[in-house]
Amino acid sequence: MSTFSQKLIAWHGQSGRSGLPWQGNRDPYAVWVSEIMLQQTQVATVLERYPRFIKRFPNVKKLAAANIDEVLAEWAGLGYYSRARNLHACAQQVMSDYEGVFPSDPKLLEQLKGIGRSTAGAIAAFAFHKRAPILDANVKRILARLFAVEGAIQDKAVNDRLWQIADELLPSKPKDMPVYTQALMDFGATWCTARKPVCLSGEKRCPFEKECQANLSDQVLTLPHKTIKAKSPEFDCEMLLIRSGNAILLQKRASKAIWGGLWSLPETPWEPKSDLSQRNTPNLKELVEITMPTEKASAWVKACKRFERHADVKHVFTHRRLWMHIWVVEMNQPVAPLGADFQWIPLAQLGRYGLPQPIKVLLQGLSLVRGDGLKN
Ligand code: ADE
Repeated sequence: MSTFSQKLIAWHGQSGRSGLPWQGNRDPYAVWVSEIMLQQTQVATVLERYPRFIKRFPNVKKLAAANIDEVLAEWAGLGYYSRARNLHACAQQVMSDYEGVFPSDPKLLEQLKGIGRSTAGAIAAFAFHKRAPILDANVKRILARLFAVEGAIQDKAVNDRLWQIADELLPSKPKDMPVYTQALMDFGATWCTARKPVCLSGEKRCPFEKECQANLSDQVLTLPHKTIKAKSPEFDCEMLLIRSGNAILLQKRASKAIWGGLWSLPETPWEPKSDLSQRNTPNLKELVEITMPTEKASAWVKACKRFERHADVKHVFTHRRLWMHIWVVEMNQPVAPLGADFQWIPLAQLGRYGLPQPIKVLLQGLSLVRGDGLKN
């Protein structure tokens, strides 16, 4: 009888994804970049953006030597910017601690910035053919179903059990590790999906239908067990879209904040969402005083020729929702803002700056920035 790994590899030969630009490549740098990019970004987007990133930063030395702003600008639109900051920090770690050569031991890989246990396993398997398991959300689902593992997957005991199963199922031959690892990812992403697994659609026959404990006990849609998520909290903030001629005033965000290191509109602190009726309509002087460390709020008011409200923009993060109340300010002349993190940026140069996605969309909507980030 064939083992789980043999069956899965056979499945991949028929129905898995192949020919993707990062597949078959044993360069750990290329594997690592692709795995980080694929973590929270769809394959179709990565297909477009991965070659561009590799062209711009072809090896770990070039990435480590780059300025973080260049890396963030290249990452713009992919979201979850801590991935880009970690990528840059990790490249510097590999240069300083490993002389630019990625370690092959998954335990060492896991100690690098931004590389979790599952990603370490994937890199070790793809680049070094190590018998290291992966356990991302898709793989957790597959294994929880196959073995009817009960309990919420966030629980440590459940998680430990899943890692143990993942380890026990590994193929015996190291050379099978890349195709096996890719097959697990693909099977979870395309067949053993959360809401429409093929076993319930009847169109395709799952190779594990006779052994999958969830299938045999009619628990496919209830496994893995989920913890009940609280509704993500909502916040309000006011943002100033300040223009003077062909320049816009942007602020570089603190590196630890959301959108850390990206350039955004000056904003008031985020506050728990209140009813529209309870929010005061701020005036320009107040807004300038709160958003910018300047004592010259009156100078801004004096130089302002237009101050009006734009439609609100709602942005949904994984764990919170933000209502951005946008105020468009047009100045007769630029006022020098205090603080190095504020800059007047010519619209023609906006493409060089990493902008949060909703801000980029907002500026595109106002035709201040072109689709590719550059204003002609
Ligand atoms: N998600 C994470 N890594 C992946 C890979 N190598 N292929 C497809 N999706 C992935």
